[in-house]
Parts: sequence; C-alpha cells; structure tokens
Amino acid sequence: MKHLVAPSILSANFAWLGRDIEMLNESEADWVHVDVMDGRFVPNISFGISVLKDIAPLSTKFLDVHLMIVEPEKYIQDFYQAGAQQLTIHIEACLHLHSAIQQIKATGMKAGVAINPHTPVSALEEILPELDVVCLMSVNPGFGGQKFIQATLQKIGKLKKLIAETGSHALIEIDGGVDANNAAIIVGAGADVIVAGSAVFKAPNPKAMISQLKNV
Ligand code: DX5
Ligand code: ZN
Repeated sequence: MKHLVAPSILSANFAWLGRDIEMLNESEADWVHVDVMDGRFVPNISFGISVLKDIAPLSTKFLDVHLMIVEPEKYIQDFYQAGAQQLTIHIEACLHLHSAIQQIKATGMKAGVAINPHTPVSALEEILPELDVVCLMSVNPGFGGQKFIQATLQKIGKLKKLIAETGSHALIEIDGGVDANNAAIIVGAGADVIVAGSAVFKAPNPKAMISQLKNV
C-alpha cells in the first residue's frame, strides 16, 4: 500500500478554514488530521466539537480526529455526531483504554491510540488487535512546527514487529515534525500514514507540498 498523507489543519489560518478544507479536497491528501487540545493533557488549546461540526460537511476527505484531551471517553459520542470518521485517543490520557476503544468502534468510527515519545510501543501489546491505527508522536504533543524526534524511526520498526506478532491490522501514523526532507526516511522505516501540519500550511504552495509528500 502506498502511504497516506494527512495534513493537519492545526497549522491552518482558522479565519480561512473553509477555503483550506476546499484546497485539501482538491489535493492528493488522503485524510484530514484534526488536532483537538484541551489545555490540560497538553499545554495548548486548539478547537473542538463545534469547529469539527462546521468543517465536516465541507470535507470530502477522511476525517482523522486526534484527541489530546484528558478523559476522552466522555466525548466519543459528541465527536461521532460532529462527523469524525476515526477517533484517536492517548494512552496516557485514558484510564480504561480497552473500554473506550470498544465505545469508539461501537459508533462505527475507526479507533486509534496515540502514544507520546516517552511511551514504549510495548505498552500497546494487548490493545493492538483492537486498533485501526497507532499514532506514534514524533514530537511532544501540543504544538505544530516542532522538530522530528529521530528515535521515532526505531519505534516504527518495533511497532511493525509487534503488529505482525499480534495479528493486528493497525496502520502506523507518524505525527509531528514531518516535512519534505524527512518524509522518505519515515515512510521507508515503515510508516503507513504521515501527518504534516506546518510543512503543508506554511509552504508557499500547500497543494504542491501535499503532492510532494505523497510522492516521496
Ligand atoms: C502536535 C499535533 C500534530 C501537529 C503536527 O501536537 O498532534 O498533529 O499538528 O504539526 P507539525 O507537522 O507542524 O509538526
Ligand atoms: Zn495530531
């Protein structure tokens, strides 16, 4: 399978979000990555349910929602009703992860777990068969425009092995610091999905940058 590209609208200008969603519709993007932050799990606040609800009808792309919030299980139904097609929650932010994943899947959404740079992939062993995607954070979550943590490349290899061993079908998504310079090595290491925020939205031609990331 060719890798998927998921531009993150965190780095878009929110005053022009509708225009940017239309740009993404016309681009080679596969998913739209939607970063929700609560100012508690991460030291930043982005946007939430009502913004997703407004962009969902405009988007023709798969809506990949990354919750960086504590107690994500409280909002599963709200994000589903707002139009999320995949909901990814953090292992570090959820006490009853297995239960929350079952609740996500019961809505019909795809289910993902994200792990911070310090969390070993071995922590996913028991939950992996339940997952559609694992999001490996390659920066500390909270902000766009940070530098890719190189050690993530080894984590991709370890996760790939664990996915095979556990019979999981989960995709490996890499989130943070991905750009045109490192995308090829990340995909080469085994990533199935690359998220790119600032690389896309700070580029002079975002649509061309998406093509470049898709064709590395
Ligand atoms: C970081 C977010 C990322 C972010 C990536 O907390 O989860 O999805 O938007 O932004 P870049 O690509 O700029 O690192
Ligand atoms: Zn993200």
